[in-house]
Amino acid sequence: MIKIRKAKISDVRPLHKLLNFFADRKELLPRAISEIYENLQQFFVADYKGRVVGCCALAVQWDNLAEIKALAVSVDFQGKGIGRKLLGACLKDAKKLGVTRLFNLTMKDGFFKKLGFQRVTKNNLPHKVWTECVRCPYFPDACVEIAMVKDLDSVPSLPAFRAEDLPQDGTVPIEPGVFAPAETKSISKRTKKRKK
Ligand SMILES: CC(C)(COP(=O)(O)OP(=O)(O)OC[C@H]1O[C@@H](n2cnc3c(N)ncnc32)[C@H](O)[C@@H]1OP(=O)(O)O)[C@@H](O)C(=O)NCCC(=O)NCCS
Repeated sequence: MIKIRKAKISDVRPLHKLLNFFADRKELLPRAISEIYENLQQFFVADYKGRVVGCCALAVQWDNLAEIKALAVSVDFQGKGIGRKLLGACLKDAKKLGVTRLFNLTMKDGFFKKLGFQRVTKNNLPHKVWTECVRCPYFPDACVEIAMVKDLDSVPSLPAFRAEDLPQDGTVPIEPGVFAPAETKSISKRTKKRKK
């Protein structure tokens, strides 16, 4: 039976091993063990008979905004709903904290799309979000991450971008104003309607 719980000190080394397994496969960014100790309170783990088989972290970044990061499920445990449960635990925590928007920077958007996240350009997120990017080996010219957001109160406040507005190679535009927000108009109209 899989148990989703907050991480503890004894989980740090298994977490490091799990995350760097996927970093070696270029599916996640590499993480130092010191970083996991420093951010341990942000982590949930999936525990199977005392073994860490999955993890996910929630990091508050701004007044209403938190990042979902370091989501991973051991290969032999994938496809069993563990990723969904880990994300659910972070989502519940975010709501408790008063966070209204979640974002994620990912190399693979399929899972997040499935769970209600929408693709946006990174420029629509506060600059604070870029602090991790600066340390990334792919920053800035070879950025491989896709920015995705999910509004917890279901009210979109940032324009989402249509697939055809995004670069065809899956990278995220990093220069302000490179891509015009195609849905801005319709979303602001919808917002105005709601306000009436
Ligand atoms: C992405 C990851 C965390 C998913 O974990 P998981 O436990 O296998 O996912 P779940 O079983 O909870 O899947 C939940 C739903 O998402 C779907 N899904 C899972 N991975 C998907 C993907 N890559 N693309 C599209 N849909 C996906 C599942 O089919 C399932 O849908 P369903 O409920 O309708 O059947 C896991 O594949 C992983 O660790 N990948 C490597 C690291 C990584 O890419 N992390 C995310 C980037 S930050």
